[in-house]
Amino acid sequence: MCGIVGYTGHREAYPIIITGLKRLEYRGYDSTGVALLNNGLKVYKKKGRVADLEENIIGKDLHAHIGIGHTRWATHGEPSDRNAHPHQSASGKLAMIHNGIIENYAQIKKELENKGYHFTSDTDSEVLLNFIEDIQQNNECDLEEAVRVALKRVTGAYCILLIAEEDPNTIIAARKGSPLVIGVGKGEHFLGSDASPMLEYTKEVVYVNDYELAIVRPDELILKNLGNEKITPFITKLDMELAAIEKGGYEHFMLKEIFEQPSTIQDCLRGRLNAAAGTITMAGVENNIEQLKNANRIMIVACGTSWHAGLIAEYVIEELCRIPVEVEYASEFRYRNPIVNKGDVIIAISQSGETADTLVALERAKANGAFIFGVVNAVGSSIARLSHAGAYTHSGPEIGVASTKAFTGQLAVLNMMALKIAKAKGTITDEYYQQLLNELQDVPEKVASILKNTDELQRIAAKYKDAHDFLFLGRGYNFPIALEGALKLKEISYIHAEGYPAAEMKHGPIALVDENLPVVFVATKDSYHEKIVSNMQEIKARKGKVISIITEGDLVSPTISDDVFSIPPADELIAPLLSVIPLQLLSYYVGTLKGIDVDKPRNLAKSVTVE
Ligand code: AGP
Ligand code: GLU
Repeated sequence: MCGIVGYTGHREAYPIIITGLKRLEYRGYDSTGVALLNNGLKVYKKKGRVADLEENIIGKDLHAHIGIGHTRWATHGEPSDRNAHPHQSASGKLAMIHNGIIENYAQIKKELENKGYHFTSDTDSEVLLNFIEDIQQNNECDLEEAVRVALKRVTGAYCILLIAEEDPNTIIAARKGSPLVIGVGKGEHFLGSDASPMLEYTKEVVYVNDYELAIVRPDELILKNLGNEKITPFITKLDMELAAIEKGGYEHFMLKEIFEQPSTIQDCLRGRLNAAAGTITMAGVENNIEQLKNANRIMIVACGTSWHAGLIAEYVIEELCRIPVEVEYASEFRYRNPIVNKGDVIIAISQSGETADTLVALERAKANGAFIFGVVNAVGSSIARLSHAGAYTHSGPEIGVASTKAFTGQLAVLNMMALKIAKAKGTITDEYYQQLLNELQDVPEKVASILKNTDELQRIAAKYKDAHDFLFLGRGYNFPIALEGALKLKEISYIHAEGYPAAEMKHGPIALVDENLPVVFVATKDSYHEKIVSNMQEIKARKGKVISIITEGDLVSPTISDDVFSIPPADELIAPLLSVIPLQLLSYYVGTLKGIDVDKPRNLAKSVTVE
């Protein structure tokens, strides 16, 4: 993972790099470092967050017009000052930052050690840097050529930025598997893991592709492949404003993002769903409707919260479109030997569009001839670009590590997709189609009404915040919501939580139930409602604490529950878009009451660009 920033131009580099790193901290916060070039290299680095580094280097000489910066999510070597990037080469003349993993670093390290190299960190990154320097010295070539030769030998994933004392205007950058965006300004260039570090300076960006190398100077951007052939940079206009990546008065990004959901879901539906006309417009689906409706099978590939959205989509697509669906963890899919046939459709779901496991799984499936449909939030991201077709969730930048608004955006897109395919296939009645369109249209308003009523959730959070474990139970469309509720709580409150299908609870987890165990039931009115009410009784009978998310007007569940939270009624296919909201808030309140930095929980990173 990790975030990288680079700048070369007429401005002071340090403030741009530090501000950029703060925006990229969601990618990792184990250590921070910058390297500046001004009459020689100056490298400052520190274990901890960007603010820790800033504090530590007050009074130092930070003047420079070129520099690189890194915020780390450690893969090789513990988080520490010595393992922090940028690394300096043995000669001290090169500085490099790296995002990714060099898989064959051990072998290269051995070769270099045999030549007398000593390493000052435990990272794979320092090995790559010295490997580059060694090639440059032995081949007597320029740095660019040495980078090319080195990269042809390494396996794994990387985005690297490199600066050298001998060429004090130039940043050399290269990527494979880790993202890199270059912002083009007047007499200046910006580099970042995403576009957020450059937003206030330029809207013109180039997304660098795998196996491309960039030579970046204030007035020049040269893009080449590893074969040293020039490539014309393709400039894209950024459609993102600075306000979208700021907290806007909220205490945390996560809270802001939860509260943004009425408008982000609306943004997702806008221009697509027209309930009055009975239509859904989605070019990615329309242009490929034959492929989609005639699919023998749909495989959904994703990780984490996006995988939970996939589980709901499985139920919805099978119900409405009568196409068999399988949902796979990308990390499993990529390493087993899955049967992917022509005629299979793969739906990739990803907020960041950069998740390494998902990306590689898709590359494999694409190579086997599968049709890839991407449901992605980050515009221009690697997964979006790799997909044959797709639909953006339009949720805006999601910064909080815990995914919230991207999830509801994914559900909205997947629902519309399923409805469109079902309509084309004739597997849905006109009445039900129209009803679901109307209901989807009402979702933003219903979410807004849930968000008006947070006091009760704060009270529930305070009551149970010291519990050691939580169980989340749901059935049918709400089963993945139970999984999502448990994941959210684990991530940002460090409380152990498990999600289960409510009935499956009897096959094991019920042994955990005692008077100390809070059990959250996602029990909105649906075709299984009576069944889940029986499951509540079973927990109550064993003295567990029952917290229920129910539909307004349900008079039975409150009589069995210790605590209830009501949400507006909705068809069972749509209900997950609503029932997840109180669970997001519940985790948020528990996490903040426990004093945890919910935007940056320990060990996690927003965008998991390493496997
Ligand atoms: C969600 O709260 C998580 N932080 C995580 O599970 C996330 O959903 C997962 O890493 C997938 O990310 P993606 O959607 O960006 O691919
Ligand atoms: N593998 C490198 C390290 O452990 C970079 C990890 C990252 O991408 O943050 O330092």
